[in-house]
Amino acid sequence: MKLVVAVIRPERLSSVLEQLFRAEVKGLTISRVQGHGGEIERVETYRGTTVKMELSDKVRIEIGVSDHFVDAAVEAIIAGARTGEVGDGKIFVLPVDKVVRIRTSEEDRAAVTPVGVPAG
Ligand SMILES: Nc1ncnc2c1ncn2[C@@H]1O[C@H](COP(=O)(O)OP(=O)(O)OP(=O)(O)O)[C@@H](O)[C@H]1O
Ligand SMILES: [Mg+2]
Repeated sequence: MKLVVAVIRPERLSSVLEQLFRAEVKGLTISRVQGHGGEIERVETYRGTTVKMELSDKVRIEIGVSDHFVDAAVEAIIAGARTGEVGDGKIFVLPVDKVVRIRTSEEDRAAVTPVGVPAG
């Protein structure tokens, strides 16, 4: 199991969610965060030039998946988030030791995929 963590532009969120839905990647967490992606601005001060680190609003997406869903999740995020401009974001894939569904105590593969709500 892996945790796919992506930091994306807020305005690309709906597009990323649509791509994830199409890829049948379900079960995720979204947070509004601030980040810095290496772009520096030089600022004059009385002591000389200093470097200011600007923070931008970003959205962080966390998706717990079984291993065979990692590539589909990464591709869906790229398809939804890429503009080609600096600052499109980054994707991290982290190992996950254990997943537990609280309602049933199911673990790992049985727990990582959300259970669909029955129709009707
Ligand atoms: N190494 C990192 N560790 C943690 N978060 C990062 C890292 N790099 C980028 N981020 C997060 O991703 C956001 C967007 O980063 P950004 O798209 O600028 O990455 P980049 O690698 O500099 O790519 P680009 O060249 O397109 O700017 C940042 O604001 C930050 O929240
Ligand atoms: Mg950057």
